[in-house]
Amino acid sequence: MCGIIGILGRGPVAEQLVDSLKRLEYRGYDSAGVATLEGDHLDRRRAEGKLKNLEARLREAPLKGHTGIGHTRWATHGKPTEGNAHPHATDNVAVVHNGIIENFRELRQRLEKGGAKFTSETDTEVIAHLVNSYLIKGASPQEAVKAALPQLRGAFALAFVFRNHGDLLIGARRGSPLAIGYGKGEMYLGSDAIALAPFTDTISYLDDGDWVVLTRETGVIYDAQNAAVNREVLKSGASSFLVDKANYRHFMAKEIHEQPEVVGHTLARYVDMATERVSLPQKLPFDFKNIQRISITACGTASYAGYIAKYWFERLARVPVELDVASEFRYREPPLHKNDLAIFISQSGETADTLAALRYAKSHGLHTLSVVNVPTSTIARESETVLPTLAGPEIGVASTKAFTCQLMVLAALSVAAGKARGALSDADETKLVHALIEIPRLMASALATEPQVEKLARDLSKCTDVLYLGRGTSYPLALEGALKLKEISYIHAEGYAAGELKHGPIALIDEKMPVVVIAPYDQVFEKTVSNMQEVAARGGQIILMTDAKGAAEATIQSLVTIVLPDMGAIFAPMVYAVPVQLLAYHTAVVMGTDVDQPRNLAKSVTVE
Ligand code: F6R
Repeated sequence: MCGIIGILGRGPVAEQLVDSLKRLEYRGYDSAGVATLEGDHLDRRRAEGKLKNLEARLREAPLKGHTGIGHTRWATHGKPTEGNAHPHATDNVAVVHNGIIENFRELRQRLEKGGAKFTSETDTEVIAHLVNSYLIKGASPQEAVKAALPQLRGAFALAFVFRNHGDLLIGARRGSPLAIGYGKGEMYLGSDAIALAPFTDTISYLDDGDWVVLTRETGVIYDAQNAAVNREVLKSGASSFLVDKANYRHFMAKEIHEQPEVVGHTLARYVDMATERVSLPQKLPFDFKNIQRISITACGTASYAGYIAKYWFERLARVPVELDVASEFRYREPPLHKNDLAIFISQSGETADTLAALRYAKSHGLHTLSVVNVPTSTIARESETVLPTLAGPEIGVASTKAFTCQLMVLAALSVAAGKARGALSDADETKLVHALIEIPRLMASALATEPQVEKLARDLSKCTDVLYLGRGTSYPLALEGALKLKEISYIHAEGYAAGELKHGPIALIDEKMPVVVIAPYDQVFEKTVSNMQEVAARGGQIILMTDAKGAAEATIQSLVTIVLPDMGAIFAPMVYAVPVQLLAYHTAVVMGTDVDQPRNLAKSVTVE
């Protein structure tokens, strides 16, 4: 996962840049580079592989500039070669980038028509050329960045340096984090507090959509509407630790907000952005064509990820899927067949029941595949195939970012299965991969519902019971919503398939019962609206999570509507998970519970 550092120093900065990149090694990378400004000349050194290769380059040909940027690259668009390593540059500007530029193809075509000469396969290089296109017309660096940012689609963090501007560093964030470090006559930018720790513990985190213009003495932050804003200045205390809360009150809040970034990293490991094809990190030891049935086993939130994936595998790959919670699967002794594929999902990779289920499937000679967040875990070690989620350490006991990363892996795997089984054409695959590439950006927009959700949480905190409803993939997400709320706020909550309401739970509905309805506008939306009518007729308070079209169609009174970005419904759970998690989080904050370590719960459940 890429790391960013930028320094406005008092002496040569190349060594400091590399030192800081060393602290970001834990994120994983496959090439690295630095650029500094020497007089009026931008110069860079880049190298494939580990930082020692970059250090060797710098020994052969030192950089002496006092202003510079550095980057560890974890390849997404284009191989991990020196030519694709960051910084990317023109004569006038150099940039480092973390994230994905979704519309890089159309920008590249446009810029090439205007005469820009590209030298890499990356999405990042378009940023350098786009900014350059304004600089060569006489724009100042600030004007050029301000003009370029609205044209970039995707989730990203950026740091720029400019020829002839030795006292200037510009940063921007949308979806991926970026922090400013304040030194004495020096200024810094970093992808996290750990990158900045050797230089300063006085930092500010940019809010989503912010961009910042730094000189050695000043830092001016602008929001997405280009209004100058102040962001809190904090003491990071991050002298060396790897997990900090950034400027969030709880790890859970930080982890919810990290999702566009970590889901983006996970995506980049599973699809080839350039060709818009699924590209799994390893070759599977079986052919999906020969798989007659998939059995998915997991616990808690991970099992809801599996439940959503059941819809995907069945619809996209036309393969039947059985879903079990591991504690039932392991003792039920279900009949298994050699042509079944057994999938296990676990954040920790240590959950005792899931591990036992894995061992049971192995003893029956099945192909075993695990989706895990801790690659060194027991479940990972004992599985035939391991598909990692790249969520990074998840500290909050309630799972958030691991869940959406699990969904991203399972979505890519179901498209791969559909392709291998002939259920999807090349064109279908392109369309689906395209939809996946948009997810990190859509998740970042979903975070913008937070103020509305926070307000709603104040009302929800006064309730004793909450119902969550959904159809299709929104049904398992309703289960997840109810789990999230009860585990951290201790408010009783149930998730139901919306169509099941009239078969029992409708008896619970009265004016004291809020009903959260998760319903993107899709082919079952009308049916869900009928279920909402049933709730409204009995005085139930409805909180509807939908898109603009759904909001326009659902004309029911006493309704609070949370409007999410428009998107195809199939992968909507990854985006709708965001307000679902935020609602649980803010309700728990109002209730004053121990959000990150709720009572009675453990992060890794290694007992039955
Ligand atoms: C809920 C939660 C748990 C876990 C479950 C499985 O927020 O975190 O329900 O999902 O204990 O844990 P892992 O994924 O580590 O197997």
